[in-house]
Amino acid sequence: MFSQIFLRSVSRFSTIALDFLSRIVCRIPVLKKYMENTHQKTVISAQGKTLPCIAPLITTVEETPQVISARVQGHLPEWLNGYLLRTGPGKFEFGKDKYNHWFDGMALLHQFKMEKGTVTYRSKFLQSDTYKANSVHDRIVVSEFGTLALPDPCKNVFERFMSKFEKPAITDNTSVNYVQYKGDYYLSTETNFMNKVDIETLEKTEKVDWRKFIAVNGATAHPHYDPDGTTYNMGNSYGKHGSCYNVIRVPPEKSDLGETIHGAQVICSIASEERMRPSYYHSFGMTRNYIIFIEQPLKMNLWKIISSKIRGKPFTDGISWEPQYNTRFHVVDKHTGQLLPGMYYSKPSFTFHQINAYEDQGCVVIDLCCYNDGRILEDYQLQNLRKTGKELDQVYNSVARSFPLRFVLPLHVDLNAPEGENLSPLSYSSASAVKQADGKIWCSYENLYPEDLEEEGGIELPQINYGQFSGKKYQFFYGCGFRHLVGDSLIKVDVVNKTLMVWREDGFYPSEPVFVPVPGANKEDDGVILSVVITPNQNERNFLLVLDAKNFEELGRAEVPVQMPYGFHGTFVNI
Ligand SMILES: [Fe+2]
Repeated sequence: MFSQIFLRSVSRFSTIALDFLSRIVCRIPVLKKYMENTHQKTVISAQGKTLPCIAPLITTVEETPQVISARVQGHLPEWLNGYLLRTGPGKFEFGKDKYNHWFDGMALLHQFKMEKGTVTYRSKFLQSDTYKANSVHDRIVVSEFGTLALPDPCKNVFERFMSKFEKPAITDNTSVNYVQYKGDYYLSTETNFMNKVDIETLEKTEKVDWRKFIAVNGATAHPHYDPDGTTYNMGNSYGKHGSCYNVIRVPPEKSDLGETIHGAQVICSIASEERMRPSYYHSFGMTRNYIIFIEQPLKMNLWKIISSKIRGKPFTDGISWEPQYNTRFHVVDKHTGQLLPGMYYSKPSFTFHQINAYEDQGCVVIDLCCYNDGRILEDYQLQNLRKTGKELDQVYNSVARSFPLRFVLPLHVDLNAPEGENLSPLSYSSASAVKQADGKIWCSYENLYPEDLEEEGGIELPQINYGQFSGKKYQFFYGCGFRHLVGDSLIKVDVVNKTLMVWREDGFYPSEPVFVPVPGANKEDDGVILSVVITPNQNERNFLLVLDAKNFEELGRAEVPVQMPYGFHGTFVNI
């Protein structure tokens, strides 16, 4: 393809030259390789120019239920046969009612089918009960994360008042991710509901309620998988003893074909530091033997959340960033369910996504995409994302950026170790774990990136070669750079040498990169990166991009004449 490779030893001059070049060749994808860390400080401030409007990427679209052919340019590898399945919000209003937050939109399921060098596409709205009820009533009848469903306007004043005291319906709009249990695919959000789907037809086949199997009120949309298919997840419970964070294990075996998450067990419950104010979390870490839970100072005020309907406020009103608290790491032995005694703390930070975690020399190493401010959830209101001009720049400049950080947690803390001693034996990491007078371990992180990543606006939506390197020492991860409020580049990070490779095409916004290994590969980055690249420009086409994961060069793309909104997560399934 038309990729240009810029190898650079970064200097101020080359940065300016690069920006100039990328402007004059704005239709040509720019592939940058940052080969060294230059300690150059660059503040991304909307790149010194007004950010382009991305409102068309955060807007309601039509579904494409019939399979259509994509126009392939370049060459897709012969071995690349399977589905790229993605999900994200695709409908933001019903009748006169409008959602407030990006996370509220109705789940639109996308399927790119790759077979012998050809690609087809289809999309369908998930037929959740929430979607169906909203459609039938032509208004929002189920509350979402940032939107409170209002009482039926057809009811009289008394009925409308009394309906505030009715138990609120819980959404089954599972728009966040595809997850796997016992070999079946489910769409998940963070409530108690998941929807099982047929990945060929994208039809919902069954709705599953976690509460019918174990005492949890939901589970994350980012479970972890053992090689044998055992799935681990985490979910909260709110009982008379306060709130707990629970580690869940779902076995891989099915004793009958109709099984869903039968046999699920809570293997460990961790009491929340504050009974009625547990932390919000979106993912967790897993090594070969341990689960790592991060209790971060983004608090959920349960009183406020329970009373949201009476108070006329959305759930988001009950979530607050409280940096007066530190972040705490909890480590659980996943075989015994025992919580380790180590009390690991670090300065306040917020993470959506862990990158990877592994064990080395008696320590757990965990890498996270971290923000130094947890108010990012508030920033992703739809009205912010749809702003234009200087107002859009202001939003972008006020939003915290995400950077990859490494923490080291020593597993066996010597009670006699002197105060102030760094207990991390890892010579390759500057992350420290220092014993304090009160026995707690204070963890200082290592930056896992060259400063060039600041120019890219940080990184989010991290992915690794999961099948071969999850829970193991690794070298590469992939993510989206954020020089806008949605990803505007694809980045490969070498966490050993701290170098970057960047793919970007001006005016296009790539989704979370999914790594697919070459069959039989033995090198970590021997495979391709799949990403759905979309544009707000009506004269351009959206496409599925296939990059060589080794050198980040384009192998091919498959264009589809269909409008698509910016989505959240996805997965690749071999056929
Ligand atoms: Fe996520």
